[in-house]
Amino acid sequence: MSAQTEAASTVQELTQSIGAEIRLSDISKAFGAQKVLKGLTLTVRPGEFLAIVGRSGCGKSTLLRLIAGLDSQDSGTIAVGRLENPFSSSGVRMMFQDPRLLPWKRVLENVGIGARGNWEPKALSALEDVGLATRAQEWPSVLSGGQKQRVALTRALMSHPQVLLLDEPLGALDALTRLEMQQLLERVWLRQRFTAILVTHDVTEAVMLADRVVLLEEGNVTLIHPIHHVRPRPLGDAELGGIEARILSRLLETKG
Ligand SMILES: Nc1ncnc2c1ncn2[C@@H]1O[C@H](COP(=O)(O)OP(=O)(O)OP(=O)(O)O)[C@@H](O)[C@H]1O
Ligand SMILES: [Mg+2]
Repeated sequence: MSAQTEAASTVQELTQSIGAEIRLSDISKAFGAQKVLKGLTLTVRPGEFLAIVGRSGCGKSTLLRLIAGLDSQDSGTIAVGRLENPFSSSGVRMMFQDPRLLPWKRVLENVGIGARGNWEPKALSALEDVGLATRAQEWPSVLSGGQKQRVALTRALMSHPQVLLLDEPLGALDALTRLEMQQLLERVWLRQRFTAILVTHDVTEAVMLADRVVLLEEGNVTLIHPIHHVRPRPLGDAELGGIEARILSRLLETKG
């Protein structure tokens, strides 16, 4: 590779790793007679870490699915970077509570799903970053829940997405593994600077990770709480605890 091509591909890699802005304008979505989102407007800044909290059934997953292009809104517009629907799904990856690994493919092959070219060294080094290089040739079934989620995260990040949507990805993990995964997530986000939207029921997690915490209620955004604390944020910090309590008590007042 010439120096010029190398520089160009580095620039491309850097550009790819910078998060996209997401602009949601007046989004409405109903399932039959049930109006789930009602004219929701929200802009997520490039490279921002946004957390969404809200009661079960308030439309959090629906919103993520719309942003990912897995479903379409009834009205309103969604723009990711400079692209408007229906092309918004390029550069957008999603992670779920269930790691969704293919059981008939080994860990390394799972990480490489969808990757092109000489992906193996890249996948191996990505697995090394999450402490799983020695498990590359094993089947997903022998991994723990946290390890499976690390593989799912590695797979999602292989293509340097501009946007990572996280739908309660840590919900099924034990408390300690969950904390470790939060730290890992923050580390990779700081490194790659994609735009992250994390849906979580855990307000402590939202406050620990997010630049802003958004409360979704009755189909709309009813609270946006910025969190300016430096990272990594210390566990048990009194000020963060105060923010958490404020969001939690507001959440308890909400309707589904
Ligand atoms: N494909 C669908 N068909 C019919 N109704 C749906 C569909 N998807 C979601 N809904 C309904 O829309 C509402 C919002 O669902 P959604 O999954 O977005 O909630 P959520 O906030 O993610 O909830 P949870 O916190 O429990 O995951 C629910 O009442 C749900 O039943
Ligand atoms: Mg959901």
